[in-house]
Amino acid sequence: MELKDKIDLKNLPKHVAIIMDGNGRWAKQQGKARVFGHKNGVQSVREVTEAGAELGIQYMTLYAFSTENWNRPRFEVNALMTLLVTTIRKEIATLNKNNIRLRTIGNTQMLPKAAQRELEEAIESTKDNNRMTLILALSYSSKSEIIAAVQSIAKQHKAGHLPIENIDESSISKALYTKDFPDPELMIRTSGESRISNFLLWQLAYAELYFSPVFWPDFRKNHFYEALLNFQLRERRFGRTSEQLDEPS
Ligand code: IPE
Ligand code: IPE
Ligand code: MG
Repeated sequence: MELKDKIDLKNLPKHVAIIMDGNGRWAKQQGKARVFGHKNGVQSVREVTEAGAELGIQYMTLYAFSTENWNRPRFEVNALMTLLVTTIRKEIATLNKNNIRLRTIGNTQMLPKAAQRELEEAIESTKDNNRMTLILALSYSSKSEIIAAVQSIAKQHKAGHLPIENIDESSISKALYTKDFPDPELMIRTSGESRISNFLLWQLAYAELYFSPVFWPDFRKNHFYEALLNFQLRERRFGRTSEQLDEPS
C-alpha cells in the first residue's frame, strides 16, 4: 500500500502551513553555494503544491521569505528575488492548469518592483481558480502583521466604528493579512529546526506542529504524506479531555 493511500481523506487539514527551511545547509553539504539550495527548493514547492491539490487540501501557505531574511547578504537576497520572479513567471500556466489560486501575505511593498508586478499578474490570472489557494508568505513578519492589525483596529475605534468592548477574536482575525483564509490546522517545518521564526503567531494558536529533519530541497510528496499521516494520529482536544471528545456534542 502506498503512503498516499493510507491518508484518510475525510480527516485532512483544510489549511497546511510550511516553513521551507534548510536550503543553505543542503547546498553546503555538497560543497555548493547557498543559492544552489534555493534553486533546488523550487522542485519541492512544485511537488508539495501538487500533492496538496491532488489530495484536496484547500489552503497551503508557504513561508518563502521573512522580514528578517532582508538581513542576509545582498547577493543572496538578490538571487532569491530573481528566483521568485522567474519561478512565478514559469509556474503561472501550471497553476492555472491545476486550478490553483495564488495569493500572498506579508509586506510585499518591500519586494522589488519586478517581483511585485509578476505577483500581481499571477494573482490576477489565477483569481477564479478554486481547487486550492496557494499563499506565499513574502517579506512576512507575524509581529509586524499584528502591529498593523492593532493600528487598523485603533483607527476604526477612533473613527467611531468599533467600540472597545466589541473588539474580539474576530476583529483581530479580520485585520490580519490572512483575513480571507481559515487558520492552519497543521504547520510543517523542515530541516530539523524547532521554532516558529515569526510565522503566523496568532493563526497557529491551535495548529499541530510537525518538524521534519529533511532539508527542504529533498522534501518530496512522500514526506508530505508522512506529515499528514502523523497529523491524523493526533488527538486534537482544544483544552477538553479525551473522554469528552467521544461524547456526542
Ligand atoms: C530556507 O532555507 C529558505 C529561506 C529562508 C529563504 P535557508 O536559506 O534558511 O537554509 P538554511 O536554514 O540556512 O540551511
Ligand atoms: C524562516 O527560515 C523563514 C523562511 C523559511 C522563509 P529562516 O532560516 O530564516 O529562520 P531562522 O533564522 O533559522 O529562524
Ligand atoms: Mg534557515
